[in-house]
Amino acid sequence: MALERTLSIIKPDAVAKNVIGQIYTRFENAGLQVIAAKMKQLTREEAEGFYAVHKERPFFNALVEFMISGPVMIQALEGENAIATNRDLMGATNPKDAAAGTIRADFADSIDANAVHGSDAAETAKVEIAYFFSDAEICSR
Ligand code: TYD
Repeated sequence: MALERTLSIIKPDAVAKNVIGQIYTRFENAGLQVIAAKMKQLTREEAEGFYAVHKERPFFNALVEFMISGPVMIQALEGENAIATNRDLMGATNPKDAAAGTIRADFADSIDANAVHGSDAAETAKVEIAYFFSDAEICSR
């Protein structure tokens, strides 16, 4: 299996619920290592740029408003199959559809306030990690 990296964001709803540590524990128990991290209040421009792929979707404005409604915790994770492993930990986009025991089933309230972001493919992971972290900020083994 390949050692991969993925970009994870603990969104404003989960930060406000004070569950950063509980979510980090899930990463660690799944063999994902935090190799970079920062807590940040995103600007509107940063949130719009990050979600630019969804620009034409009807939920885009609400998504941006939500992502700037409070601080987020951003981390790059490294591990075997990190992208799929993190997506499995997160659960489905809509917490109503998320499997029991996933982060979204346990901590998310709705499809728009759904606790976490995780890259969905190798190419997006690369772009998303570079969006928030310089090479010097990544502390890999
Ligand atoms: P998407 O990339 O489809 O989901 P995921 O976060 O699971 O990769 O969508 C990005 C975010 O956009 C999603 O986490 C929440 C928001 N969103 C909505 O608010 N409404 C929607 O109908 C969809 C599909 C997404």
